Amino acid sequence: MNSLSPPSGVAQPQSSTSSATRGLHVITWGCQMNVYDSERMSDVLRPLGYRAVGTPDDADMIILNTCHIRDRAAEKVFSELGRLRKVKEARAERGEGTVLAVAGCVAQAEGGEILARAPYVDIVLGPQTYHRLPEMVARAARAAGAVIETDFPVEQKFDFLPADREAPVGGAAFLTIQEGCDKFCSFCVVPYTRGAESSRPAQAVIAEARRLVAAGVREITLLGQNVNAYHGDGPDARTWGLTRLARVLADEVGIERIRYTTSHPRDMEDDLIAAHRDLPQLMPFLHLPVQSGSDRVLAAMNRGHTADEYRALVGRLRDARPDLALSSDFIVGHPGETDADFADTMRLINDIGFAQAYSFKYSSRPGTPAAGAAMHVAEDVKDARLQELQAVLRVQQDAFNDATVGVTAPVLFTGHGRKPGQVSGKSPWLQAVNVDGPDSLIGRIANVDIRHRYTNSLGGVLTEETDRA
Ligand code: 5AD
Ligand code: SF4
Repeated sequence: MNSLSPPSGVAQPQSSTSSATRGLHVITWGCQMNVYDSERMSDVLRPLGYRAVGTPDDADMIILNTCHIRDRAAEKVFSELGRLRKVKEARAERGEGTVLAVAGCVAQAEGGEILARAPYVDIVLGPQTYHRLPEMVARAARAAGAVIETDFPVEQKFDFLPADREAPVGGAAFLTIQEGCDKFCSFCVVPYTRGAESSRPAQAVIAEARRLVAAGVREITLLGQNVNAYHGDGPDARTWGLTRLARVLADEVGIERIRYTTSHPRDMEDDLIAAHRDLPQLMPFLHLPVQSGSDRVLAAMNRGHTADEYRALVGRLRDARPDLALSSDFIVGHPGETDADFADTMRLINDIGFAQAYSFKYSSRPGTPAAGAAMHVAEDVKDARLQELQAVLRVQQDAFNDATVGVTAPVLFTGHGRKPGQVSGKSPWLQAVNVDGPDSLIGRIANVDIRHRYTNSLGGVLTEETDRA
């Protein structure tokens, strides 16, 4: 969870005219796609006078952008809404109105339930309808009841979102190029909440990337639920894959660092693997979820590949880019997972060696095939497996980070460090790196001698050659 709280704006009572400034507070949970969506919602509301404020108490509009992927998503939303209700009531006592909106995948999946249980919510909107937000705000102001928009409209939201994004700070930005998923993994709600897979036209992505570069962005992370399945209409009337798009972004748009997430092993085509060899702008870090190392469980999950196919794929990627750091997602305790299946997962982890990973206990999501499956795994078994798996992944992560101590690496500085006088950035392998250095480094890339490994970050010193101006 993270709460986006960019610089302050001046909150005004909601009764002010549309040209006056109004406070907007967006709370974002979940994946990077939600972070991107929250930024786009802020963009779409800017012409109405909404500016970000650091606290909901100052906000004429509060948006809770939710995530539905795992356990207790809805309960978390209702408990946060209870808190926001108090904020809304306190503001009402001061004569200030508040529009409260719930967005994201929980809104999509449980919109009706939200309005029934939290009638003080004014707007419920699914991820495909953000471009209609201004109209919804106007309707909410007029209407006595709440506004709900959770359909999958025929028009593409991206065609209707404003071209101008707020200038990103820190030289790094997300750019959504693809949404939705047709893979229907047994456990996953995404195909239902985000809808069918669709790709933005290459030209639209390129135009957005050009604006980001003009605003000082050095690194773009291309986002999509299945980003390497990207197949956007190209300006040459052909379909472009991710590789073609990345090459144009690197060579013609001039992006210095490109990342993409999240990829599916099944869509890791040869041309993309080759791009990791010969496109230096592609950063040597790849999030490639495998979920399980057991062929039986992978089949039950409908993942469409075996454990050995994943091993072979990683081998080809490492042949192409020997310093490639790998990250993955794991689920323990999928229905039917036995001790032997879990042992296969541990074997895969030991074979590959991950630089970083996310791991979860299987949680049953209503409406997904696995929810109705037989042989659900007991909670204490899941707990024990998760602990064992995370312990090994931790050792691997520490070993990977230890191996970068002594290396000189280019770091993109994205913000202040935790200690005064420090700036913080990202290594090519997506490690957090802190150094003593001036604020003027923020948004720039400089070489760092990496000297220390801490639990979740590295410490280093700027190299002699770094221009500190
Ligand atoms: N239970 C546990 N983990 C899940 N994920 C997705 N759905 C579930 C679920 N029902 C995990 C997967 C996915 C990541 C984003 O969240 O590992 O890759
Ligand atoms: Fe969910 Fe599977 Fe699609 Fe990933 S590939 S979003 S896990 S259904």
